[in-house]
Amino acid sequence: MNPLIFAMPDCDQLADRLAGLMAGDRGLMEMRRFPDGESYARLMDDVSGRNVVFVVSLVRPDDKILALMFAASTARELGAKTVGLVVPYLPYMRQDRRFHEGEAITSRWFARLVSSFADWMVTIDPHLHRYHSLDEIYDIEAHSLRAAPLISAWIADKVEKPLLVGPDTESTQWVSVVAESVGAPFTILEKNRKGDREVEVSRPDVSAWKDHTPILVDDIISTARTMIETVGRIEEVGLRPPICIGVHAVFAEQGYEALKAVKPADIVTCNTIAHETNAIEVAELLADGILDRVSFLKH
Ligand code: R5P
Repeated sequence: MNPLIFAMPDCDQLADRLAGLMAGDRGLMEMRRFPDGESYARLMDDVSGRNVVFVVSLVRPDDKILALMFAASTARELGAKTVGLVVPYLPYMRQDRRFHEGEAITSRWFARLVSSFADWMVTIDPHLHRYHSLDEIYDIEAHSLRAAPLISAWIADKVEKPLLVGPDTESTQWVSVVAESVGAPFTILEKNRKGDREVEVSRPDVSAWKDHTPILVDDIISTARTMIETVGRIEEVGLRPPICIGVHAVFAEQGYEALKAVKPADIVTCNTIAHETNAIEVAELLADGILDRVSFLKH
């Protein structure tokens, strides 16, 4: 039977597109807050015997994770055959070790919580740095899809003579793949994060590529300090203002305004998180990934 797809708040558009692409049925749910701030959830369609999918935006997750747990657990309680999550941006991946004594390794606790109420999950470019795979922390079938081919297609369509720049070693995994597929050179810088809002980035050696268009590629733009510092280093070595591409437009605090203020040539993101910089569409990537890879939906 076709999957029954519910949209958590702000996810109707993506859920509609996925239902179309996956021949799924759209489920209706009511989700609201009581006056005291507690969450109310009600599934309006019969879920019994169905493969149920929740499409959820988990940027700023602390406000949303309980409501998701209530909805998913209720689907299970009411007899859903399976419960899956489409989480275009997976939060809590950056605290992947105990940097200081006594710190919570929140990536693990968050993974344990999500694994307790779902059977599978599909996400895009989770921040895999010290973890190599989601399986190291998620106990459920967890698939990570890559936005690199979509970013490559955008660059191939819009930019002549690109030079890919990664702000730190973690970005090599995206930058090298994109560079190879568009046939462009790439360089990776050294980053030293001194605090949540303080970042130092090394200066690139770009003498061979002075006539290229620099394109910064990173997975997450949060405070945007990483992008801002990298834009500065690129301009110091005499390149033209870069295009900044981020997979996930988290944009914490005034990050977006601060990045615009350093005047990059453009700011482009994938629509894993709704934002005015979204220019790269991920619905087909998600639908294909779900249909190809989620074992629960194959039988
Ligand atoms: C961390 O290593 C990530 O890949 C990003 O570089 C980082 O999350 C960006 O954060 P911010 O925008 O706050 O500098």
